[in-house]
Amino acid sequence: MHKNVKKILFTEAEIIARSTELGAAITNDYRDRERPPLLVALLRGSVPFLAELIKHIDLDIQYDFMDVTSYAGTESGGDIKILKDLDTSVQDLDILLVEDIVDTGRTLDAVISLLKNKGARSVKIVTLLDKPSRRVLEMKPDYVGFEVPNEFVVGFGMDYNQLYRGLPYIGVLKEECYQ
Ligand code: PRP
Repeated sequence: MHKNVKKILFTEAEIIARSTELGAAITNDYRDRERPPLLVALLRGSVPFLAELIKHIDLDIQYDFMDVTSYAGTESGGDIKILKDLDTSVQDLDILLVEDIVDTGRTLDAVISLLKNKGARSVKIVTLLDKPSRRVLEMKPDYVGFEVPNEFVVGFGMDYNQLYRGLPYIGVLKEECYQ
């Protein structure tokens, strides 16, 4: 375990097992659609989860990336800056947004509006972690890996100052590392 991690919440084996279940549920839900969904992963935290999840979706999916920053000052949603937009058109596509964690819900709220405005047929959410106690905007992810308490989680894509993303597990960062 990394010296700055206080405890492990989810091991690599648990994350893989849960991703396997989520992939099966997604496969089942989208199997009869005209076209498989386009997975849209939000940089950067979602990358390890995307990489694990796609191994377990038994459909001819494609994926693309967006990079956005939300402005924490607003509670209205819709207020984001796009740092990197999609390379793919979403017109008439079923979109599955891939996140590492849903916190206040601001990021997803804004991205969902954006994708719908661009003509997406449907937008659903798969997230590795959900932290509902922090929610500011109503947001209910369609597929959730694990619900987590309000602790500082790192690993499997999640960072503090861009560090710890490469840890193969999800852990809680020691307080002295961010205070
Ligand atoms: C994190 C996370 C979500 C967002 C969730 O991204 O990956 O995108 O915050 O927060 P919200 O629900 O309050 O909007 P971050 O901006 O830290 O970027 P990163 O993915 O590059 O770490």
